[in-house]
Amino acid sequence: MKIVLIHGQNHKGSSYHIGRMIADKINTAKEVTEFFLPKDLNYFCLGCYNCIEDESKCPFYVKKKKIMDAVEQADLLIFTTPTYCMRASAPMKSFMDLTFTYWMVHKPRKCMFSKKAIVVSTAAGRGTKSAIKDITNTLLYWGVPYIRTYGISVQSMNWAQVPEKRKIQIQSDTDRIAKIFSEEQKTRVGIKTKLLFNMMRMMQKVGWGSSPVEKEYWESNGWLAKERPWNNKL
Ligand SMILES: Cc1cc2nc3c(=O)[nH]c(=O)nc-3n(C[C@H](O)[C@H](O)[C@H](O)COP(=O)(O)O)c2cc1C
Repeated sequence: MKIVLIHGQNHKGSSYHIGRMIADKINTAKEVTEFFLPKDLNYFCLGCYNCIEDESKCPFYVKKKKIMDAVEQADLLIFTTPTYCMRASAPMKSFMDLTFTYWMVHKPRKCMFSKKAIVVSTAAGRGTKSAIKDITNTLLYWGVPYIRTYGISVQSMNWAQVPEKRKIQIQSDTDRIAKIFSEEQKTRVGIKTKLLFNMMRMMQKVGWGSSPVEKEYWESNGWLAKERPWNNKL
């Protein structure tokens, strides 16, 4: 199993430790790759829209490609982010902006429709729910059909200070989550993803996409005809 962790922070705090703990506890042969933001992609989207016509024209293409190649090859994606002002961290948001052509409304990738993902966020008190939602929303629009989330209030500014009682709870919660992902099961694309895809398909079909390049992409995948990214024929 190929696991890619994307951390919305450079430091190894509570969010990092929980994400890493889950990856380490997954009980199957695995290859783990990690990216840290902003260290591995220290840019904001400039809004130039070059990527709409040609993704390689993004000024940050080379660094972004390194991460997205790993993402495309992964079976399981683990995202971690500290909760900052009730949302995901700014570097994580920036990463999502920089990869917006992967959204179903533009050029969804077939490989996404068979992936699994886990989204982890820690807060001192409140806000993990909305921080996690920032990321699950992107994953939904990428087409990832199976997403589990884990948010916890750690009452702390760093991992060392997390109260012992909380750490015991985290151990048992991460055991449970890792067990789910250790079991080999096929992902099934749900009705929500299918509905979204079909809406985007209709848009592309009538030429309401952002560029004729997008329509060509959908056509070349056979999605404007009978093919669907969750079918294994192509
Ligand atoms: C800029 C900033 C904003 C924060 N905003 C919140 C917040 O909205 N709610 C909260 O409960 N904790 C907030 N915190 C605390 C962190 O979410 C908390 O300490 C978290 O566990 C840190 O995760 P880490 O150890 O992975 O960095 C904030 C911390 C910082 C530095």
